[in-house]
Amino acid sequence: MVNMIKQKRGRFSVSDPVRSRHTNQGESELSNIRPRRLRSSETMRSMVRETQLSVNDLIYPVFAVHGQGIREEIPSMPGCFRLSIDELCKEATEVHLLGIPGILLFGLPEIKDEVGSEAYSETGIIQEAVRSIKSEIPELLVITDVCMCEYTSHGHCGIICDGDVLNDETLSYIARIALSHAEAGADIVAPSDMMDGRVRAIRDALETNGFSNTAIMSYAVKYASAFYGPFRDAAECAPQHGDRKSYQMDPANAREAIVEALLDIEESADILMVKPALSYLDIIHRVKMATNLPVAAYNVSGEYSMVKAAATNGWIDERKVTMEIMTSIKRAGADIILTYFAKDVARWL
Ligand code: PBG
Repeated sequence: MVNMIKQKRGRFSVSDPVRSRHTNQGESELSNIRPRRLRSSETMRSMVRETQLSVNDLIYPVFAVHGQGIREEIPSMPGCFRLSIDELCKEATEVHLLGIPGILLFGLPEIKDEVGSEAYSETGIIQEAVRSIKSEIPELLVITDVCMCEYTSHGHCGIICDGDVLNDETLSYIARIALSHAEAGADIVAPSDMMDGRVRAIRDALETNGFSNTAIMSYAVKYASAFYGPFRDAAECAPQHGDRKSYQMDPANAREAIVEALLDIEESADILMVKPALSYLDIIHRVKMATNLPVAAYNVSGEYSMVKAAATNGWIDERKVTMEIMTSIKRAGADIILTYFAKDVARWL
């Protein structure tokens, strides 16, 4: 069709697919629709841009360890560190000065045991870290990951019996961990264990103990994903036997995401998270369409490390690729993006 040369009125003598495509009035009627007009300059493009990424959308995940003066780079996550609380406070100050509204805290305990008891200890790594950060930078939102896998000797996210992760037995532990985080001053608790009923169990524990203002950001839709690989190195929480497929979701399922999201709303979650983000943009979109709560998306460790590895090799432009990824996560429907790139993105915006 492009090759077909025809005599026509106007300046075009070549049959133009753009022009003819938009008309069903026959070939003589030319459409004036040309989407390229609005791409002609950066000013024009920014005026019609549909998705705006903002520093307010970001949350920065960090890893806390016991000790003093520790700033240990995580090999599989270049640019991310395990930080002792003194160093973590410096990091949190930087995050706050960059305008990022919050951090998500993960902790590495002194000792691991069958029930992950440091996870709910008043002097656990997270509880100490929350108290220090909230006293130094009260305006920064502190979100805590509520899970057992970093704290258990077997590396699973719950109580184990005969190789099975027991759902209802785990709930009281999860609620106890969340309550201890709230008592330390966490603004938001974020359960990532994927036990059924944990949002309700946490909400009940918070309400009965006077923490009705502590919000719950539920990892409502969390897949059993290989993209968590680098994180499990960072947090030393790979399961010692088996995998997490009996509690985290099957990557092939999309309708089930809505079942999970609606359940968590019923159990009174305040924010719904989808995790991972990049291979699950359709899920982010579906959850956004099906619900009215803020939707968070977790751009997980494997997504970060892939970009870092390719960029280090000079194969991709780290800044451009990262900004494209962030924009696509936002465009899919995320209101909040949890990302190890948060500080970089804040500088690049
Ligand atoms: C703990 C937890 C994990 C992540 C966040 N919380 C690991 C897992 O579920 O195996 C992954 C985060 C990342 O990969 O960046 N349950």
